[in-house]
Amino acid sequence: MTKIIAITNQKGGVGKSTTAEALTADLKSRGYKVLAIDLDPQGNMTHTSRASTSGATALGVLTGEVEAKDAIRHTEMGDIIPAHSGLAGADAFIADTGKEYRLKEALEPVKDNYDYIIIDTPPALGILTVNALTAADSVIIPAQCDIYSLNGIDQLYKTINPVRKYCNPDLKIDGILLTRNNERTMLSKEVTELAGQLAERIGTKLFKSSVREAVAIKEAQIYQKSIFEYASKSKVAADYRAFTDEVLGKESSVNG
Ligand SMILES: Nc1ncnc2c1ncn2[C@@H]1O[C@H](COP(=O)(O)OP(=O)(O)OP(=O)(O)O)[C@@H](O)[C@H]1O
Ligand SMILES: [Mg+2]
Repeated sequence: MTKIIAITNQKGGVGKSTTAEALTADLKSRGYKVLAIDLDPQGNMTHTSRASTSGATALGVLTGEVEAKDAIRHTEMGDIIPAHSGLAGADAFIADTGKEYRLKEALEPVKDNYDYIIIDTPPALGILTVNALTAADSVIIPAQCDIYSLNGIDQLYKTINPVRKYCNPDLKIDGILLTRNNERTMLSKEVTELAGQLAERIGTKLFKSSVREAVAIKEAQIYQKSIFEYASKSKVAADYRAFTDEVLGKESSVNG
């Protein structure tokens, strides 16, 4: 059974693309068949994976002009359907009846070729994110461990609920992943507690693993490599491996 996971948070810069890249690369290195879909017009994941953006992209897949199979690029990070800057106008041109189901329908013919499909979403709650949530089996919410960032999750929940009601009743929230922790200031007990309570309120869990702030993440992206290829032995790579363990339902290794 294929599992489709959307990485979502309408707040910008919280580590969605970084998490989508790490999860895709780690699952691939563990032998799973993985497809990544970049639904963000910024195309960060597309850039890191060095996928070509000429030809069929996620844009054509959503408008129905191309089939998903024709938009897939095979890269070292895994298979990916690249983004296109034209996705920025999606709310205007994806407006017909059934607009929420475009991605779900497009993935049907290719879905069974993969164990996991990981969808990176833009920092917005528009039609692209709704398409991701409608196609997905579950959502992972990366969040920075500060109060303002956590407060935004309530708003995300207000988008997830109508998607459940009208488009995807079985949509699960796998959990909240705290990202970009400052190693020196230690993850504050209060913020972790608050994140735990928030997770409970929206019917999910806080992942035991969290991801530290580390310059290797930015460097890997500059060199267009996965964190595992760029700095396999780094602590932040270990953070993301522990996170993958949890996603796979394995007991998380202690990460600290
Ligand atoms: N653990 C980390 N350590 C250091 N830098 C990080 C870490 N995670 C993410 N970053 C950096 O923070 C910035 C934002 O991360 P990322 O692009 O993953 O967030 P995002 O939620 O996808 O942003 P957007 O909403 O713009 O799509 C990037 O420059 C990235 O390199
Ligand atoms: Mg992003």
